[in-house]
Amino acid sequence: MHLLTTPRLVLDAPRESDIPAVLVACQDAETQRWVPLPEPYTRESAEFFVRSYCPHGLASGQYSVWAFRESAEDPLIGVIEVRRDEAPGSASVGSWAAPGGRGRGLVREALAAVAEHALDQGGLGFAQLRWDCLRGNDASRRLAESVGFVFDEAPGRTLWYRGEERPALIGVLRRDGLRG
Ligand SMILES: CC(C)(COP(=O)(O)OP(=O)(O)OC[C@H]1O[C@@H](n2cnc3c(N)ncnc32)[C@H](O)[C@@H]1OP(=O)(O)O)[C@@H](O)C(=O)NCCC(=O)NCCS
Repeated sequence: MHLLTTPRLVLDAPRESDIPAVLVACQDAETQRWVPLPEPYTRESAEFFVRSYCPHGLASGQYSVWAFRESAEDPLIGVIEVRRDEAPGSASVGSWAAPGGRGRGLVREALAAVAEHALDQGGLGFAQLRWDCLRGNDASRRLAESVGFVFDEAPGRTLWYRGEERPALIGVLRRDGLRG
């Protein structure tokens, strides 16, 4: 996986020693509220994420999950995932962060670096990125908008979430819309 750095962060692959931090971030009520993760989220869920889910994405070429951390030795603060869509040239991006890592602009910094790499012809080379979030997830929308995603206000957009169709917002970012 391509290693990325920003002024405050190192982005690399989730690893065995991140399992406790993954567990805290994914058991958090806000993460559970907005991301369709296993519920309850157990130690085994975090082990599966690090040992199987993330390596499988890279091996299959379907998705990449970057962990972002303040230094190479620190546990992860959160992750950014880029997943190839069925539509050619398009990928969907998602993120979660541990509660203690929120509100400092760190997710924004990580997302900007990953989006730039994903849209770079010398990187993953996607022509556009999508950000899907449930209506009401204002922190998610603000985060995506801060790096340049533009949201379609059209009513009627929905996402399947834990077996239920829920109102959603879809943001799009192309190379020329990226905000550094
Ligand atoms: C969505 C989520 C990842 C956003 O995280 P976040 O901490 O708000 O994002 P950032 O690290 O970029 O922090 C931005 C906030 O820090 C503030 N901030 C403080 N210092 C900052 C700095 N140096 N630079 C930029 N922003 C800064 C910003 O003003 C902003 O606050 P605001 O949202 O009240 O306007 C987080 O809320 C989360 O994990 N939620 C649960 C999972 C989830 O919903 N995922 C998305 C599913 S679609």
